[in-house]
Amino acid sequence: MKQALASGAGSSLKSTEFEMSDRDFKDIAAMLYADAGIYMPESKTTLVYSRLVKRLRALNLESFREYCDLVGSPDGSDERREMLSALTTNVTRFFREPHHFEHLSAHVLPPLLELARRGGRVRLWSAACSTGPEPYSMALTVLGLEPNAASLDIRILASDIDPRVVEEGRRGVYPVAALVEAPVALRKRYFAGVGGDERRGLQASEELRRLVVFRTLNLNGAWPMPGKFNVIFCRNVVIYFDEQTQQTVWSKFAAKLERGGVLYIGHSERVTGPAAARFASDGVTAYRLREGDGA
Ligand SMILES: C[S@@+](CC[C@H](N)C(=O)[O-])C[C@H]1O[C@@H](n2cnc3c(N)ncnc32)[C@H](O)[C@@H]1O
Repeated sequence: MKQALASGAGSSLKSTEFEMSDRDFKDIAAMLYADAGIYMPESKTTLVYSRLVKRLRALNLESFREYCDLVGSPDGSDERREMLSALTTNVTRFFREPHHFEHLSAHVLPPLLELARRGGRVRLWSAACSTGPEPYSMALTVLGLEPNAASLDIRILASDIDPRVVEEGRRGVYPVAALVEAPVALRKRYFAGVGGDERRGLQASEELRRLVVFRTLNLNGAWPMPGKFNVIFCRNVVIYFDEQTQQTVWSKFAAKLERGGVLYIGHSERVTGPAAARFASDGVTAYRLREGDGA
Protein backbone atom coordinates (compact mmCIF):
# COMPACT_ATOMS: atom_id res chain seq x y z
CA MET A 1 0.00 0.00 0.00
CA LYS A 2 1.55 3.31 -1.09
CA GLN A 3 1.06 6.25 1.26
CA ALA A 4 2.76 9.31 -0.22
CA LEU A 5 0.61 11.88 -2.02
CA ALA A 6 2.07 12.95 -5.33
CA SER A 7 0.38 14.96 -8.02
CA GLY A 8 0.98 13.76 -11.55
CA ALA A 9 0.20 15.54 -14.80
CA GLY A 10 -3.19 17.32 -14.86
CA SER A 11 -5.25 16.61 -11.77
CA SER A 12 -4.49 12.90 -11.34
CA LEU A 13 -2.99 11.61 -8.12
CA LYS A 14 -0.71 8.63 -8.48
CA SER A 15 1.56 6.99 -5.91
CA THR A 16 -1.24 7.22 -3.39
CA GLU A 17 -3.20 4.55 -1.55
CA PHE A 18 -5.88 4.85 -4.25
CA GLU A 19 -5.20 6.27 -7.68
CA MET A 20 -7.43 9.21 -8.60
CA SER A 21 -7.37 9.88 -12.33
CA ASP A 22 -8.15 13.20 -14.06
CA ARG A 23 -11.45 11.70 -15.10
CA ASP A 24 -12.31 10.64 -11.51
CA PHE A 25 -11.58 14.15 -10.24
CA LYS A 26 -13.61 15.76 -13.03
CA ASP A 27 -16.57 13.45 -12.39
CA ILE A 28 -16.54 14.25 -8.66
CA ALA A 29 -16.19 17.99 -9.34
CA ALA A 30 -19.10 17.84 -11.84
CA MET A 31 -21.36 16.06 -9.31
CA LEU A 32 -20.48 18.58 -6.59
CA TYR A 33 -21.26 21.45 -8.96
CA ALA A 34 -24.56 19.87 -10.03
CA ASP A 35 -25.63 19.17 -6.42
CA ALA A 36 -24.41 22.30 -4.63
CA GLY A 37 -23.09 24.82 -7.15
CA ILE A 38 -19.66 24.40 -5.55
CA TYR A 39 -16.82 24.91 -8.03
CA MET A 40 -13.80 22.68 -7.38
CA PRO A 41 -10.75 23.74 -9.44
CA GLU A 42 -8.04 21.21 -10.33
CA SER A 43 -5.74 22.80 -7.75
CA LYS A 44 -7.97 21.16 -5.09
CA THR A 45 -7.21 17.61 -6.19
CA THR A 46 -5.28 16.80 -3.01
CA LEU A 47 -8.07 18.21 -0.86
CA VAL A 48 -10.70 16.11 -2.65
CA TYR A 49 -8.51 13.03 -2.27
CA SER A 50 -7.89 13.55 1.44
CA ARG A 51 -11.55 14.27 2.21
CA LEU A 52 -12.85 11.22 0.33
CA VAL A 53 -10.20 8.61 1.05
CA LYS A 54 -11.93 7.77 4.34
CA ARG A 55 -15.14 7.06 2.44
CA LEU A 56 -13.37 4.61 0.12
CA ARG A 57 -11.88 2.82 3.12
CA ALA A 58 -15.23 2.76 4.96
CA LEU A 59 -16.92 1.26 1.89
CA ASN A 60 -14.08 -1.18 1.19
CA LEU A 61 -13.70 0.12 -2.34
CA GLU A 62 -10.63 -0.48 -4.44
CA SER A 63 -10.50 2.72 -6.50
CA PHE A 64 -11.90 6.19 -7.07
CA ARG A 65 -13.44 4.84 -10.29
CA GLU A 66 -15.57 2.46 -8.22
CA TYR A 67 -16.48 5.36 -5.95
CA CYS A 68 -17.51 7.54 -8.92
CA ASP A 69 -19.62 4.71 -10.31
CA LEU A 70 -21.35 4.32 -6.94
CA VAL A 71 -22.14 8.01 -6.34
CA GLY A 72 -23.20 8.39 -9.97
CA SER A 73 -25.74 5.54 -9.74
CA PRO A 74 -29.33 5.64 -8.40
CA ASP A 75 -28.27 3.24 -5.60
CA GLY A 76 -25.60 5.66 -4.49
CA SER A 77 -27.81 8.55 -3.38
CA ASP A 78 -27.00 8.10 0.34
CA GLU A 79 -23.29 8.03 -0.42
CA ARG A 80 -23.72 11.06 -2.67
CA ARG A 81 -24.94 12.96 0.41
CA GLU A 82 -21.95 11.65 2.37
CA MET A 83 -19.70 12.92 -0.42
CA LEU A 84 -21.29 16.36 -0.21
CA SER A 85 -20.82 16.42 3.57
CA ALA A 86 -17.19 15.40 3.20
CA LEU A 87 -16.44 18.01 0.54
CA THR A 88 -18.12 21.04 2.11
CA THR A 89 -16.13 23.20 4.50
CA ASN A 90 -18.09 23.80 7.70
CA VAL A 91 -15.65 26.02 9.63
CA THR A 92 -17.58 28.53 11.73
CA ARG A 93 -17.57 30.14 15.16
CA PHE A 94 -19.69 32.20 17.52
CA PHE A 95 -19.57 35.94 16.82
CA ARG A 96 -17.29 35.43 13.82
CA GLU A 97 -16.57 38.83 12.25
CA PRO A 98 -17.90 40.57 15.39
CA HIS A 99 -18.42 43.92 13.63
CA HIS A 100 -21.49 42.40 11.92
CA PHE A 101 -23.14 41.66 15.26
CA GLU A 102 -22.26 45.15 16.53
CA HIS A 103 -23.80 46.66 13.38
CA LEU A 104 -26.88 44.44 13.74
CA SER A 105 -27.32 45.48 17.36
CA ALA A 106 -26.67 49.20 16.89
CA HIS A 107 -28.23 49.99 13.51
CA VAL A 108 -30.54 47.25 12.31
CA LEU A 109 -32.34 45.59 15.21
CA PRO A 110 -33.66 48.64 17.17
CA PRO A 111 -36.36 49.62 14.61
CA LEU A 112 -37.12 45.94 13.88
CA LEU A 113 -37.67 45.24 17.58
CA GLU A 114 -39.97 48.28 17.78
CA LEU A 115 -41.93 46.77 14.90
CA ALA A 116 -42.12 43.39 16.66
CA ARG A 117 -43.27 45.01 19.94
CA ARG A 118 -46.12 46.61 17.99
CA GLY A 119 -47.11 43.11 16.77
CA GLY A 120 -45.14 43.15 13.49
CA ARG A 121 -43.31 40.27 11.89
CA VAL A 122 -39.49 40.18 11.86
CA ARG A 123 -37.49 37.54 10.02
CA LEU A 124 -33.75 36.94 9.93
CA TRP A 125 -31.92 34.29 7.93
CA SER A 126 -28.55 32.61 8.36
CA ALA A 127 -28.29 31.20 4.86
CA ALA A 128 -25.31 28.84 5.28
CA CYS A 129 -25.49 28.23 9.00
CA SER A 130 -23.13 25.25 9.32
CA THR A 131 -23.39 23.81 12.86
CA GLY A 132 -25.27 26.81 14.26
CA PRO A 133 -22.91 29.33 15.88
CA GLU A 134 -23.91 32.04 13.38
CA PRO A 135 -27.72 31.88 13.88
CA TYR A 136 -27.30 31.46 17.65
CA SER A 137 -25.03 34.54 17.68
CA MET A 138 -27.80 36.41 15.83
CA ALA A 139 -30.35 35.14 18.37
CA LEU A 140 -28.15 36.14 21.32
CA THR A 141 -27.80 39.61 19.79
CA VAL A 142 -31.59 39.85 19.53
CA LEU A 143 -32.08 38.62 23.12
CA GLY A 144 -29.40 41.04 24.36
CA LEU A 145 -31.69 43.88 23.22
CA GLU A 146 -35.09 42.26 23.82
CA PRO A 147 -35.22 39.45 26.40
CA ASN A 148 -38.86 38.74 25.45
CA ALA A 149 -38.00 38.17 21.80
CA ALA A 150 -39.10 34.53 21.78
CA SER A 151 -42.66 35.56 22.64
CA LEU A 152 -42.78 38.12 19.80
CA ASP A 153 -43.14 37.32 16.09
CA ILE A 154 -39.38 37.17 15.56
CA ARG A 155 -37.75 34.12 14.03
CA ILE A 156 -34.36 33.24 12.61
CA LEU A 157 -34.21 30.72 9.79
CA ALA A 158 -30.95 28.73 9.93
CA SER A 159 -30.33 26.74 6.77
CA ASP A 160 -27.51 24.76 5.19
CA ILE A 161 -27.21 22.23 2.39
CA ASP A 162 -25.59 19.66 4.69
CA PRO A 163 -28.22 17.82 6.81
CA ARG A 164 -25.54 16.70 9.29
CA VAL A 165 -24.56 20.20 10.32
CA VAL A 166 -28.22 21.25 10.40
CA GLU A 167 -28.91 18.45 12.89
CA GLU A 168 -25.95 19.53 15.02
CA GLY A 169 -27.28 23.08 15.02
CA ARG A 170 -30.69 21.87 16.08
CA ARG A 171 -29.14 20.05 19.07
CA GLY A 172 -27.28 23.22 19.99
CA VAL A 173 -24.51 21.61 22.04
CA TYR A 174 -21.00 23.10 21.90
CA PRO A 175 -17.76 22.76 23.83
CA VAL A 176 -17.27 25.48 26.46
CA ALA A 177 -14.31 26.85 24.45
CA ALA A 178 -16.57 27.51 21.44
CA LEU A 179 -18.46 30.17 23.40
CA VAL A 180 -15.53 32.27 24.63
CA GLU A 181 -16.36 35.04 22.14
CA ALA A 182 -19.98 35.26 23.32
CA PRO A 183 -20.78 38.07 25.80
CA VAL A 184 -20.49 36.46 29.23
CA ALA A 185 -23.90 37.58 30.53
CA LEU A 186 -25.67 36.19 27.46
CA ARG A 187 -23.73 32.93 27.56
CA LYS A 188 -24.62 32.44 31.23
CA ARG A 189 -28.26 33.21 30.66
CA TYR A 190 -28.86 31.20 27.48
CA PHE A 191 -26.46 28.23 27.73
CA ALA A 192 -26.12 25.60 30.43
CA GLY A 193 -23.96 22.50 30.94
CA VAL A 194 -25.46 19.33 29.45
CA GLY A 195 -27.11 17.55 32.39
CA GLY A 196 -25.62 20.26 34.62
CA ASP A 197 -22.08 19.26 33.60
CA GLU A 198 -20.16 21.77 31.46
CA ARG A 199 -17.56 19.13 30.62
CA ARG A 200 -20.24 17.47 28.47
CA GLY A 201 -20.72 20.71 26.58
CA LEU A 202 -22.97 23.77 26.75
CA GLN A 203 -26.49 23.47 25.39
CA ALA A 204 -28.55 26.33 24.01
CA SER A 205 -31.56 26.97 26.25
CA GLU A 206 -35.14 26.27 25.19
CA GLU A 207 -35.75 30.01 24.90
CA LEU A 208 -32.76 30.53 22.59
CA ARG A 209 -33.68 27.53 20.45
CA ARG A 210 -37.27 28.73 20.14
CA LEU A 211 -36.02 31.72 18.15
CA VAL A 212 -34.08 29.62 15.62
CA VAL A 213 -35.64 27.26 13.09
CA PHE A 214 -33.18 24.87 11.38
CA ARG A 215 -33.82 23.58 7.84
CA THR A 216 -31.83 21.85 5.11
CA LEU A 217 -31.74 24.13 2.06
CA ASN A 218 -29.59 24.36 -1.06
CA LEU A 219 -28.87 27.99 -1.97
CA ASN A 220 -28.68 26.86 -5.59
CA GLY A 221 -32.02 25.07 -5.52
CA ALA A 222 -35.60 26.23 -4.95
CA TRP A 223 -36.27 28.38 -1.88
CA PRO A 224 -39.65 27.25 -0.55
CA MET A 225 -40.05 30.00 2.10
CA PRO A 226 -42.92 32.25 0.99
CA GLY A 227 -42.06 35.39 2.99
CA LYS A 228 -39.26 37.95 2.86
CA PHE A 229 -36.49 38.67 5.36
CA ASN A 230 -35.39 41.83 7.15
CA VAL A 231 -31.84 40.55 7.61
CA ILE A 232 -29.82 37.93 5.74
CA PHE A 233 -26.41 36.62 6.79
CA CYS A 234 -24.75 34.82 3.88
CA ARG A 235 -21.14 34.60 4.91
CA ASN A 236 -18.24 32.49 3.75
CA VAL A 237 -20.17 30.29 1.36
CA VAL A 238 -20.39 32.00 -2.04
CA ILE A 239 -16.57 31.91 -2.20
CA TYR A 240 -17.07 28.26 -3.13
CA PHE A 241 -19.35 29.14 -6.08
CA ASP A 242 -18.29 30.31 -9.55
CA GLU A 243 -18.97 33.91 -10.61
CA GLN A 244 -22.23 33.19 -12.47
CA THR A 245 -23.63 31.19 -9.57
CA GLN A 246 -22.66 33.96 -7.13
CA GLN A 247 -24.45 36.57 -9.22
CA THR A 248 -27.61 34.47 -9.35
CA VAL A 249 -27.56 33.99 -5.57
CA TRP A 250 -27.06 37.75 -4.93
CA SER A 251 -30.07 38.52 -7.14
CA LYS A 252 -32.18 35.95 -5.31
CA PHE A 253 -31.21 37.54 -1.97
CA ALA A 254 -32.12 41.02 -3.22
CA ALA A 255 -35.55 39.67 -4.19
CA LYS A 256 -35.93 38.00 -0.79
CA LEU A 257 -35.23 41.11 1.32
CA GLU A 258 -37.90 43.37 2.79
CA ARG A 259 -37.70 47.09 2.07
CA GLY A 260 -34.59 48.47 3.85
CA GLY A 261 -33.37 44.90 4.47
CA VAL A 262 -29.71 44.21 5.22
CA LEU A 263 -27.38 41.59 3.76
CA TYR A 264 -24.16 40.62 5.56
CA ILE A 265 -21.48 38.79 3.57
CA GLY A 266 -18.06 37.31 4.37
CA HIS A 267 -14.96 39.53 4.55
CA SER A 268 -13.48 38.10 1.32
CA GLU A 269 -16.75 38.29 -0.63
CA ARG A 270 -18.45 41.07 -2.58
CA VAL A 271 -21.82 41.51 -4.24
CA THR A 272 -21.38 41.38 -8.02
CA GLY A 273 -23.57 41.34 -11.13
CA PRO A 274 -27.00 42.94 -11.61
CA ALA A 275 -27.83 42.78 -7.87
CA ALA A 276 -24.93 45.13 -6.98
CA ALA A 277 -26.94 48.17 -8.16
CA ARG A 278 -29.78 47.26 -5.81
CA PHE A 279 -27.63 47.53 -2.69
CA ALA A 280 -25.93 50.45 -0.95
CA SER A 281 -22.95 49.87 1.31
CA ASP A 282 -23.98 50.12 4.97
CA GLY A 283 -20.70 49.31 6.72
CA VAL A 284 -17.96 46.74 6.29
CA THR A 285 -19.39 43.93 4.13
CA ALA A 286 -22.90 45.02 5.08
CA TYR A 287 -25.34 46.09 2.36
CA ARG A 288 -28.78 47.67 2.56
CA LEU A 289 -31.40 47.32 -0.13
CA ARG A 290 -31.70 50.73 -1.80
CA GLU A 291 -34.70 52.92 -1.03
CA GLY A 292 -37.69 52.09 -3.19
CA ASP A 293 -36.55 48.49 -3.64
CA GLY A 294 -38.07 45.52 -1.80
CA ALA A 295 -41.65 46.80 -1.85
C1 LIG B 1 -17.49 27.92 5.85
S1 LIG B 1 -19.13 27.52 6.33
C2 LIG B 1 -19.73 29.13 6.78
C3 LIG B 1 -20.58 29.11 8.02
C4 LIG B 1 -21.05 30.47 8.53
N1 LIG B 1 -21.85 31.17 7.55
C5 LIG B 1 -19.87 31.32 8.94
O1 LIG B 1 -19.50 32.25 8.22
O2 LIG B 1 -19.29 31.05 10.00
C6 LIG B 1 -19.89 27.23 4.74
C7 LIG B 1 -21.20 26.47 4.82
O3 LIG B 1 -21.85 26.58 3.55
C8 LIG B 1 -22.56 25.37 3.32
N2 LIG B 1 -22.88 25.29 1.88
C9 LIG B 1 -22.06 24.98 0.85
N3 LIG B 1 -22.74 24.99 -0.31
C10 LIG B 1 -24.02 25.32 -0.01
C11 LIG B 1 -25.21 25.49 -0.77
N4 LIG B 1 -25.21 25.31 -2.09
N5 LIG B 1 -26.35 25.81 -0.13
C12 LIG B 1 -26.36 26.00 1.21
N6 LIG B 1 -25.28 25.84 1.99
C13 LIG B 1 -24.12 25.51 1.39
C14 LIG B 1 -21.63 24.30 3.83
O4 LIG B 1 -22.31 23.09 4.11
C15 LIG B 1 -21.03 24.97 5.07
O5 LIG B 1 -21.71 24.60 6.24
